[in-house]
Amino acid sequence: MNIALKLQRRTDTSASLFASAQEVIPGGVNSTARATWSGWEPYPLFVTSGSGSHVIDADGNDYVDYLLGLGPMILGHRPPRVTRAVVEQIENVGTVFALPAAAEADLARKIIAAVPSVESVRLSNTGTEGVLYATRLARAYTGRRKIVRFEGMYHGFSDGVYWSKHPKIETAGPDARPVPVPQGPGLPKGVEENLIILPWNDAEALRSVIAEQGHEIAAVLTEPMMCNTGCILPLPGYLEAMREMTAEAGIVLIFDEVITGFRLGLAGAQGIFGITPDLSVFAKGLGGGFPVAAVGGRREIMDLVSDGTVSLAGTYTANGIAVAAANATLDELNEPGAYERLYAVSDRLRHGLEEIFKASGLPAHVVGLGPVLQVWFSDAPIHNYRDAERHADQDMFRRWWLGMIERGILFHPGAYENLFVSFAHSDLDVDTTLAAAREVVATLS
Ligand SMILES: Cc1ncc(COP(=O)(O)O)c(C=O)c1O
Repeated sequence: MNIALKLQRRTDTSASLFASAQEVIPGGVNSTARATWSGWEPYPLFVTSGSGSHVIDADGNDYVDYLLGLGPMILGHRPPRVTRAVVEQIENVGTVFALPAAAEADLARKIIAAVPSVESVRLSNTGTEGVLYATRLARAYTGRRKIVRFEGMYHGFSDGVYWSKHPKIETAGPDARPVPVPQGPGLPKGVEENLIILPWNDAEALRSVIAEQGHEIAAVLTEPMMCNTGCILPLPGYLEAMREMTAEAGIVLIFDEVITGFRLGLAGAQGIFGITPDLSVFAKGLGGGFPVAAVGGRREIMDLVSDGTVSLAGTYTANGIAVAAANATLDELNEPGAYERLYAVSDRLRHGLEEIFKASGLPAHVVGLGPVLQVWFSDAPIHNYRDAERHADQDMFRRWWLGMIERGILFHPGAYENLFVSFAHSDLDVDTTLAAAREVVATLS
């Protein structure tokens, strides 16, 4: 990390809070994405509050927030309807009973109404658990053990899938058939025998692995848009081919819509791309900032849970706060015209950035769909993780990030993360962002 690129904005309080936190919290933070080694060098900003599309840091700096908690704050910070529902639940109802409540079926019905591929649905607390549930269901349903997952994706941190997220490609095998690389020590050896790692956006690689090992493959697990390597769109026909091949081979197709679900639209990425997966996992967009996730899909598969054949448990699953928050979030997302407004603001931002980069002559392009986007500094197209590793200029991204954050525009310092737009972002926020971008881009050229 180039020392000269360290954060210059007045953030002394964050620096001292971080020093203090490091004494008692390993790494000073409670999740990898907030750690210095994820880009928050020399320290992450400490937040004091958020409101709508803005957050205030510990030194009183105000930011237009495109980090949005890495996705969940789809309605912005402290959305009134969700806040009221949660407060009401806590003050007048209660939180955990280890007994069902009517509101759970209300929520299930709303999810089913929103996402046509979902015939029945179970809740969990996080995306990690949701993916774990989905892969377990797929294995139980097919009686097979292997899961195909794609290099550069993230499906949570459970032992079975926390492999080949962003491996060093020199140690990760051939382009067409990567080898599983653990996220670090501590993942039990042998787990990788149940994994097949493939390059994304490569239908032939999938076809050949299914031809060889299809009878052992329980599921193909994929993000429908590759949000965990800087927002890569599926090539035309790729998801369709994946759907066709998995259906023919009796393989469960799992869409991990933890980021895209309820964010790209009520029916998620599958609604936008017109693909029907067998199982889907939803999380961030579902809870309006509260921890709740869902796994749902074909009744035939989900029915394995009905009689306890497959056990999905959890003290806190469907707790009162999660269910109240998700019910209120979905009510808000169901308001007429909601996504049209979200897309209008998001598209203004993306097109504005595109124009600025085009005029600059920099080798940069803006990628994404609606309220999820990222800027690639690359003169080559990027269709998968190895393209990104080979062509994306990370130093240039760092300078872009630094210039923007110094001007009060907040997003994650990692080029493989995304910028998120919320329902609370306004045209004024976009104007402020584009004005900052013009200044920063002038310094990059
Ligand atoms: C696509 C995807 N799947 C799963 C997860 C894990 O979700 P959680 O952090 O809620 O456990 C994430 C988190 O960022 C994700 O982006």
